[in-house]
Amino acid sequence: MAIDIAEDSRARFAGFDLTRVPSPCFVVDAAQIDRNCAILADVAARSGGHVFLALKAFSMPSLAPVVMAHLSGTAASGLHEARLGREVFGGHVATFSAGFKADELDRVLRLSDHVIFNSAAQHARFRGAVMGAQAEGCRVEVGLRINPEHSEGWNATYDPAGPCSRLGMPVSQVRPEDLEGIDGLHMHTLCEQGFEPLARTWRAVEPVIGPWLNRLKWLNLGGGHHITRGDYDRDGLVDLIRHIRATHGVEVYLEPGEAVALQAGILVGEIVDRTHNEMPLAISDISATCHMPDVIEAPYRPELLGELPEGAAAAIRVGGPSCLAGDVIGDFRPADGWPVGARFAFLDQAHYSMVKTNTFNGVPLPSLAVWDSRTDALNLVRSFGYDDFLMRL
Ligand SMILES: Cc1ncc(COP(=O)(O)O)c(C=O)c1O
Repeated sequence: MAIDIAEDSRARFAGFDLTRVPSPCFVVDAAQIDRNCAILADVAARSGGHVFLALKAFSMPSLAPVVMAHLSGTAASGLHEARLGREVFGGHVATFSAGFKADELDRVLRLSDHVIFNSAAQHARFRGAVMGAQAEGCRVEVGLRINPEHSEGWNATYDPAGPCSRLGMPVSQVRPEDLEGIDGLHMHTLCEQGFEPLARTWRAVEPVIGPWLNRLKWLNLGGGHHITRGDYDRDGLVDLIRHIRATHGVEVYLEPGEAVALQAGILVGEIVDRTHNEMPLAISDISATCHMPDVIEAPYRPELLGELPEGAAAAIRVGGPSCLAGDVIGDFRPADGWPVGARFAFLDQAHYSMVKTNTFNGVPLPSLAVWDSRTDALNLVRSFGYDDFLMRL
């Protein structure tokens, strides 16, 4: 039977003493990163495809050795991530940006194995720079991101195939001459999805791009694949990658982010005040807007570790210490009723939280810790202070 990794994560972190770390603190379980990456490596081995970690989702340098024991490289979103991929993670670096600038592109070309342009116009503008780098011995290959014009999006914010999207060249606009100097195609249109949306996207786009692929070297299917979730149809994905490789003679790349860090981390916080205004309220040292911005942007309600079932207790609305009225994380039913000083943790915070933190209002950044649920070893990787706040202003 498929493992429910959310259930497994609740059980693992229930065994972690939240007072072992300063608050607030991201705690990432190296064992879960290892397990997720082993699943991705198995898909790569069985399909003949290649899997990169999308650094935008999760990019802790201290866990790079764990990730790179399994995966073949990283997907970067510009110069800084390309450098992180090349210098810290190793392996292949595939860099896509919706808009490269000339001064960064020169360095990106020298740091990356694949550089992927968002439009034929950007490629045409930078073709000289690419050829210059190649003439100097740089073995970079060039990709073009297409918009397959087939939407599987359930949330417009995360739908690069939605109306008027700026991401990727609409496939109906691509002319044969746009593929001159192009080695591969890239598409990314999914978000937290199972295999079927990918299969439907492929069925929609294969008739259009299939005839081009035999002149190209690779196809990158982007991220958004929740491959490590227990209910993901991994055999279906393996078959699809095999089909693409066999039919079209291209290498196939995937660049998941969330799937690498799914259910691998918590954000530990502390209650600093309790008040009442029409309902019980709590102020915590975790801020939605500074530490978990997707709670507001996506939006979503994070899961509280050890929360009581509905009806078992009155809900308490918790928010951060910032001035923003909307800095609210949600309404929860904590088992201990959240007295001042109580520790608590939100689950599934390893991806798209740590990478998005900011110091609005001078709110301190959470510390970072790596824990290994197999051995109980804990390593406090970094803590941040005034200098980190000052440096950015
Ligand atoms: C181009 C590209 N590749 C990969 C990813 C990673 O997606 P996910 O973390 O949902 O797997 C994203 C996410 O936005 C993306 O834009």
